[in-house]
Amino acid sequence: MSVPPGLGIVLTMDGIDRQFDEHSSERADEDDGFLRDIWYFAMPSNELKRSTKFGKTLLGDPVLFARRSDGSVYALRDICPHRGIPLSDGRMVGDEIECCYHGWRFEGGGACTCIPSLYEGQDFEVSRVRVLSYPVREFLGGIWIYMPSDPRQTDPVVEPPNIPQIGSAPNMTERMLFPSHIDHAVIGLMDPAHGPFVHKSWYWRSSKSIKQKEKAFGPSDYGFCMLRHPPSTNGKAYKLLGGEMTTEIRFQLPGVRIEHVMAGRHQMIGLTTVTPIKAQVTEIHHMVFWTMPWLSLLKPILRPIARQFLGQDRDAVTKQQRGLSHGPTLMLINDSDVMAKWYFRLKKTYGAWRSGGPEFENPVKETTLKWRS
Ligand code: FES
Ligand SMILES: [Fe+2]
Repeated sequence: MSVPPGLGIVLTMDGIDRQFDEHSSERADEDDGFLRDIWYFAMPSNELKRSTKFGKTLLGDPVLFARRSDGSVYALRDICPHRGIPLSDGRMVGDEIECCYHGWRFEGGGACTCIPSLYEGQDFEVSRVRVLSYPVREFLGGIWIYMPSDPRQTDPVVEPPNIPQIGSAPNMTERMLFPSHIDHAVIGLMDPAHGPFVHKSWYWRSSKSIKQKEKAFGPSDYGFCMLRHPPSTNGKAYKLLGGEMTTEIRFQLPGVRIEHVMAGRHQMIGLTTVTPIKAQVTEIHHMVFWTMPWLSLLKPILRPIARQFLGQDRDAVTKQQRGLSHGPTLMLINDSDVMAKWYFRLKKTYGAWRSGGPEFENPVKETTLKWRS
């Protein structure tokens, strides 16, 4: 068989002409700095209606999401294994997806179910054609996806983040794209020292409100935790909640922050998820769950405040790109920057485990961090 150079079609033993495109090995050479073999937040549930599909790039990979008529969700690599057209350009036929080019059909598990061009009696086992199917889970109003490092090993090695359940879906969701690598988005969002400078506003902070902070931290699932404590008194918004109040903030790989506020008999959860779309584009979702019915009345006020907050973070990261484009050496010092150091250490430890090193062991130790913010 003669093949034009670069196309690289190989005739495999099973008689299927397959393009030689080992996606994983291609990725291994150009290290994108994304953690794999872990769960990422993909999208809010309400963005995927029943019997519809949606194509989205995650970690540089094209992914097709589809929801069956019974409400369940699946995700496939958004590239038709026949000749590479995105499956998301096709249509749903029942619960399956039909490629727009030659009509091959795939079920949610990734197996081909129909090749319309096969002639009667042709000896070809359709179900042996497969497209990568990603594990997905849906909970608390969000769809999560497991991004494997090896497309042949898609059994999750970890569970998705464990988020306290205080409602079935967020009361409020904001989404924003940051023009940066996930690492800068994550360490920018977890960093308390920028608060009085980036989030200046009359109802929240000013640089005059800087105070010394001292917080106890410890390891938690694939991350670290700011142990439960009464919240800082200099955030006026906290006072609105009323009652005896405590907060716990957890961070976990790859980029999930869970702030759990208990206020008297009520609770509030702020869930921030950071998902790489590609090298320099990162998607942030900020979701808030609460149990106090009266807080829902304030949504028209809270929503613009949340957007403003996230927008301030995005603006800082956007300006930062101008400096980063010159490849400067950066610094992390031993104040609240220690959290960013932990992030990189956690990531390295996890990455080493997944590429054959020792089993993940949390490198974070119980400690108290001090800083002024
Ligand atoms: S490219 Fe999808 S069916 Fe041919
Ligand atoms: Fe911020």
